[in-house]
Formats: sequence, structure tokens, C-alpha cells
Amino acid sequence: MSLVDTIRGKARKTVRRIVLPEGDEPRTAAAAKIIRDEGLADPVLVTPETIAAPSNAATLKRYASALYELRKAKGLTEEGAAKLAADPMYYGMMMVKCGDADGLVSGAVHSTGDMLRPALQIIRTAPGMKLVSSSFLMEMPCADVGENGLLVYADCVVNPCPDAEELANIAVATAETARRLCGMDEPRVAMLSFSTKGSAEHALVAKVRKATEIARGLAPGLLIDGELQFDAALVPEVAALKAKGSPVAGRANVLVFPDLQAGNIGYKITQRLGGASCFAVLQGLAKPCNDLSRGCSVDDIVNTVAATAVQVREA
Ligand code: ACO
Repeated sequence: MSLVDTIRGKARKTVRRIVLPEGDEPRTAAAAKIIRDEGLADPVLVTPETIAAPSNAATLKRYASALYELRKAKGLTEEGAAKLAADPMYYGMMMVKCGDADGLVSGAVHSTGDMLRPALQIIRTAPGMKLVSSSFLMEMPCADVGENGLLVYADCVVNPCPDAEELANIAVATAETARRLCGMDEPRVAMLSFSTKGSAEHALVAKVRKATEIARGLAPGLLIDGELQFDAALVPEVAALKAKGSPVAGRANVLVFPDLQAGNIGYKITQRLGGASCFAVLQGLAKPCNDLSRGCSVDDIVNTVAATAVQVREA
């Protein structure tokens, strides 16, 4: 069974309320119908018209007031909060924040930054999590890499320049996503670099090495190793030469890139040249909110909503 089928199956078990703040966007509206018909979630389409409806006035006022309380220390005025709360993206985030929806999916129209910023400001990190990051679930056309062809990449979406501690947090959160969402019983995390086990010395390599040590402290028992080159992480023959005895090298199923440039370029190469099908989820938020690519298909929206519903169930 494909990853998408597994996720859709899990989503059907408990129907979650997922808000779609781009409710007047045609692909989103079409996806909502499929989601409802297939029992994957209870989609709530938010549009400027639904927000402005007279029957919604009390809710809008409640969200504006809650938003003001949340952000007044950051300089948000009551007037500014009222204006923001009427914006579908902020309105949707307030629905999730106030418990009127379980999760949110957006990004068919908005850029990643415009979706991430309100999520970071309003939903914030989950208890015990220091950082929001992302996992890209990559399903390869061949089953002989990763976990039967499934690889989890991070961070390809959120953190431009993570330091060693942030990179360690990304590694641990990604292993958890691999376990919970992808059903990987044994995440094997490779901390990627242009060096394998001391083959090169540079401050960038030292950062990856330090992150590996910090991650070991954060998650004792997690199979993690670094620094490893991409081929040493995935190819047994290369691992045998360059990283003998590593519990991860040659059989990694989770790949942590050293920064956002490497991660974002890496997932796009895997998708475009390697033929992987893929989609992303955010991790570390107090409630699940997920971003779409502006080039997304109806099916991409359906799948991301199903994954969001599963993140609620598994939270
Ligand atoms: N985890 C938790 N909180 C965070 C994080 C994080 N990773 N990053 C920022 N924050 C918090 C800040 O502490 C701040 O909180 P506060 O306002 O309460 O003090 C708030 O979020 C806003 O942070 P800023 O740094 O002011 O916001 P910024 O404008 O820098 O935006 C953002 C943050 C949107 C995540 C930015 O780093 C960004 O644009 N990242 C890249 C997004 C992107 O373009 N990705 C590539 C394309 S996606 C694709 O190809 C699939």
C-alpha cells in the first residue's frame, strides 16, 4: 500500500475538522468535496464572505479580541487585530487556536512565508518543542532505498540557517514524524554533509557533527549518525568503504540536510530527476497546520488534509 493510501486510511478512523482558509480557490473547493465524500475529514471552507456574514459577527469579534491578547505585547493594536482577524488566513489560524477546528491547510494561493508567519505567531510551538520545522515525505519509484522506497527529508521548508542545536531539534522531530505519520518503526537518521566521518574539515562540517552529538543527548536510543555524505547515507557499498560500523550509513531512511538551501534543492532534485512523489508536513506546532505548494493539484490538497487529520489523531 502506498504512503498516501496508508495516510488516507488512518485519517478515516477519526473525522477531524480541518479549516481551509483559501475556500474560494477552485482546487481547494474541489478538494473539499472529495475530502467530505471520502470521509477523510470535515473540511471548513473559509472565505471573505463567510467571515463577513452577519451570523458570524460574534465569532469574528471573539477572534479579534483573542488575537489582540496574544499579540499586544508585540505591538498589535485592537484596531490592527480586528483587521487581521477578518483576513481568512488569520481567521483560520484563530479557529484552530480557539479549538473551533483541529488543524489547517493552506498555501494554494499564499506563499510559504505568508502561511508560516501567522502559524508561528498564533499557533506557536508544541509544549517541549523549541522549533517548528518540516518533513518532506518522498516516495521513490524504486523500493531499494530507505524504507521500501520511502525517505523522509528535513528541513526543506522552514529554517534558513539552523545552528547545531536547531539542527539537532530538526533531526529528533523528523524521526518522530517518520515514526508517527509514516509508520517507520525504526527511523535511521543520517546527518548530511559534504564530508563523511572526518573526510573533510570545515566549520560547516563541525556544525553537523555537533548537531549529531546534541541529538544523541536529546533522544538516547535513536539511530542517528553523522556527518555523512548523501551516498554514504544511502548506498551500502559506499557506506562499507567510508563509514564502516555505522548503524545508519547505507540504510538511512531519514535524511537531515545542513540548511534550507541544501534541503530545498535536495527535495526538488529527488522529485524532478529522481521521479519521487512527495508532500510536506510541518512539525513542532502546537496544532497541525500545513502548507501547500502554489502549483498543487486537487489530489495534493486532499492528501495534505488527510495527513493533517492524522497529525491531530497522533498528537
Ligand atoms: N520555529 C518556531 N518559531 C519561529 C521559527 C521557527 N522555526 N521561526 C520564526 N519563529 C517565530 C519567531 O520567534 C517570531 O515569534 P514572535 O513574533 O512571537 O517573536 C515569529 O515566528 C516570526 O518570526 P520572524 O523571524 O519575525 O519572521 P520571519 O519574517 O523571519 O519569518 C519564516 C519566519 C516565515 C519561517 C522565515 O524564516 C521564512 O521565510 N522561511 C523560509 C520559507 C520559505 O520560503 N521556504 C522555501 C519554500 S517552501 C517549498 O519550496 C516547499
